[in-house]
Amino acid sequence: MQKVCLVTGCAGFIGSHLTSSLLDLGHAVVGVDNCASGYSRNMESFIGHADFTFYERSITDKGLLAELKARHEELDVVFQLAAVVSVPYSVDNPELTIQVNFEANRDMLDAAREMGFSSFVFAGSAAEYGNEERLPVKEEYAGSAEQLSPYGVAKYKSSAYIEKSGYGCSLRFFNIFGPRQDPTSQYSGVISRFVDFGLSGEKMVIFGDGNQSRDFLYVSDVVTSYLIAAGLDREGRGPLTGIYNVGTGKGRSIRELASIIADLTSGPKEISFKPERAGDIKHSCADVSRITAAGFKPEISFDEGLALTVAWAKEAHILNSEG
Ligand SMILES: NC(=O)c1ccc[n+]([C@@H]2O[C@H](COP(=O)([O-])OP(=O)(O)OC[C@H]3O[C@@H](n4cnc5c(N)ncnc54)[C@H](O)[C@@H]3O)[C@@H](O)[C@H]2O)c1
Repeated sequence: MQKVCLVTGCAGFIGSHLTSSLLDLGHAVVGVDNCASGYSRNMESFIGHADFTFYERSITDKGLLAELKARHEELDVVFQLAAVVSVPYSVDNPELTIQVNFEANRDMLDAAREMGFSSFVFAGSAAEYGNEERLPVKEEYAGSAEQLSPYGVAKYKSSAYIEKSGYGCSLRFFNIFGPRQDPTSQYSGVISRFVDFGLSGEKMVIFGDGNQSRDFLYVSDVVTSYLIAAGLDREGRGPLTGIYNVGTGKGRSIRELASIIADLTSGPKEISFKPERAGDIKHSCADVSRITAAGFKPEISFDEGLALTVAWAKEAHILNSEG
């Protein structure tokens, strides 16, 4: 059944991929973004699409969902991706972070439930686990370790609110990568930054010894998890309620990553090591039992995903150097 879906953060990295896929599947999309960290160039492939309507608005606008529902009567699904995404920015702007990443989400969830929306899917984060050292990280560990940033606190409060309400779902993403990820972002963009270094012929910079590890998932698999969560999956998986880690369940070291990307970009193999950054966790890896039991399985391998990302970045580099 075709749906009308709200995608907040549609000008962002993940939101633009989700929007494209929903439109390809024949759904209509109402997109909201205030372009705080997103770009209109990310929406190039769908901005003129007959089933896409864009609103340059903030999710903190009171009554936003009711207003959109009045204009788009069939609106029935919410994908809430809009967020303050930079962890360092959240440290400098804790109030705004709580407003956008928790309060606006809580209000939108309540409004969606009252208006009888069929699904509400929130973009949670591995940052909700704070300084958790038990690995792989299980959903129920959240809230036990020390929080490291207002970003993590606000995402945690949102997920907890969703779980307690018994309505909607929070997908706790680990490290996502793929085309259109902004290399200039300070937020979890290690792959896009390394690709950028490699293609520019610059040495990659690693903070710490490079043995720290992260759980990287390719963006098209993230889109699949969203479709499952909202019950829009063609294979009939989902819908989901509650909290789910979304990752591969495998940690990859930053050193390994640097070496693969140096090969793919033909960039310098020598690495510049800098002191460890305060607040950086050593290892992060998802326990994926819950989302696996719901039928989710990543389809793009780490190597394939990196090759696709580098191929896209090479083209973008050529266009940038021509423009
Ligand atoms: N990329 C990752 O590795 C990762 C990991 C875990 C969670 N997440 C979450 O996934 C979501 C998408 O992240 P992304 O990587 O695509 O980041 P992104 O910065 O590319 O996208 C976020 C979008 O939200 C928009 N936005 C910010 N504040 C807004 C507001 N008040 N109103 C309307 N729009 C607003 C931004 O302009 C941007 O387009 C975020 O909620 C993020 O916290 C991402």
